[in-house]
Amino acid sequence: MDVVNDVYKRGYIPLIDSEKKVDLVSEIKRLKKEKNAVILAHYYQEPIIQDLADYVGDSLGLSRKAAETEADIILFAGVHFMAETAKILNPTKKVILPDLNAGCSLADSCNAEDLAKFKERYPNHLVVTYVNTSAEVKAISDICCTSSNAEKIVQSIPLDQPIIFAPDKNLGSYIKNQTGRDMVLWDGACIVHEAFSLEKLIALYQKHPKAQIIAHPESEAHILKVANYIGSTSELIDYVKTNPNSEFIVATEAGVIHEMQKAVPNKILVAAPAKEDNTCACSECAYMKMNTLEKVYSCLKYELPEIHVEQEIQERALIPIQRMLDLS
Ligand code: 13P
Ligand code: SF4
Repeated sequence: MDVVNDVYKRGYIPLIDSEKKVDLVSEIKRLKKEKNAVILAHYYQEPIIQDLADYVGDSLGLSRKAAETEADIILFAGVHFMAETAKILNPTKKVILPDLNAGCSLADSCNAEDLAKFKERYPNHLVVTYVNTSAEVKAISDICCTSSNAEKIVQSIPLDQPIIFAPDKNLGSYIKNQTGRDMVLWDGACIVHEAFSLEKLIALYQKHPKAQIIAHPESEAHILKVANYIGSTSELIDYVKTNPNSEFIVATEAGVIHEMQKAVPNKILVAAPAKEDNTCACSECAYMKMNTLEKVYSCLKYELPEIHVEQEIQERALIPIQRMLDLS
C-alpha cells in the first residue's frame, strides 16, 4: 500500500487485515511511549479516545498544552483547526491528526480572501478571531480568542477601538451584549450549536423541572436566553461540579457529557435536543466524530496524516495566538 499518497487523498489510513486483530488500546499506549508522543483530545471526542488521551480539554486548554508539551509527536484528537494551532505553536514538532477531513463549519465559513475584503470595509477595526479558523485567517487577525476567554480578550482592547469579530456570529453577539462594545460580526455559525430546538428544549425541561439549563455561547440567542449558565466546554464541566443542583440539561456537543458524568456520577445530565431527530436525539459534531480508535491507531503507527503550515503563514498566525495566550 502506498500509504503516504493514499492518506492525503483519503484523509486517513484504513486498517489492513492483520491490524484488525490488534488490541488497539494497548497498542496505542505502547506506540505513544515508544515514539514519545502525546495525545491531546477535545471533550467532543468519542469517550474511548478521551480516556486514552494524556490531556482532555477545551480549545484554550488544548492550545496551552500544545504550547508547553515536550513530546516529539502531538496526536491531536480534535478537528483540523486545533491540530493546525498546535503546529503553529510547535513548528519543529510533528503534529498528526487521525482524519484530515475533520473540519469545522465555523472555520469553513470564513476564508482569508473574504476576511481581507471585509477588513477593507472596516479599516479602523481590530480583528478578533475565534480559534475556530484556518492558519491563513489567523495570519490576518490581530488577536485570537476561544469561548472561555473571548470576553476577557475583547475587554482588553481599548474602549474606543471598534472590533471585527469572526467567524461565530452567536458567540460574537453574546460577547457584544456582555461588553457593550462596538463590534461588527462575521456571519458564521456552528452547525451543531445552531441545531438545538427551543421547542424541544422546553418540552424536555417540562419533564425535568428541577434541571438547570447550561449552554455553550456558540448556541443561538433564544437558547442562551433560557440558559441558567453560559460557558465554554470546560466552564460547563466546572459548573456542574460546583453547582449544588443535581440535574442539568446540557446544550453543547453531547461528547462533553462523558467527562461531566465522570466528575459527577450521581447527578442527572441530559443532552439538549436537536431540531432534527437523529439516532441519539442529541447534537453530535460529525467532524469531531470522524476520529475513531482505529484512525488514532493508524495515525500514530504511520505518523500520518501530518499537519503542515507554510512558514510565512505560521510566523504570522503565531502572533495573534501568542497574544491570546499571554492575555489569558
Ligand atoms: P470550547 O471547547 O473551547 O468551548 O470550544 C467548543 C467548540 O465548539 C470547539 O470546536
Ligand atoms: Fe466546529 Fe461546531 Fe464541530 Fe466545534 S462543534 S468543531 S465549532 S462544527
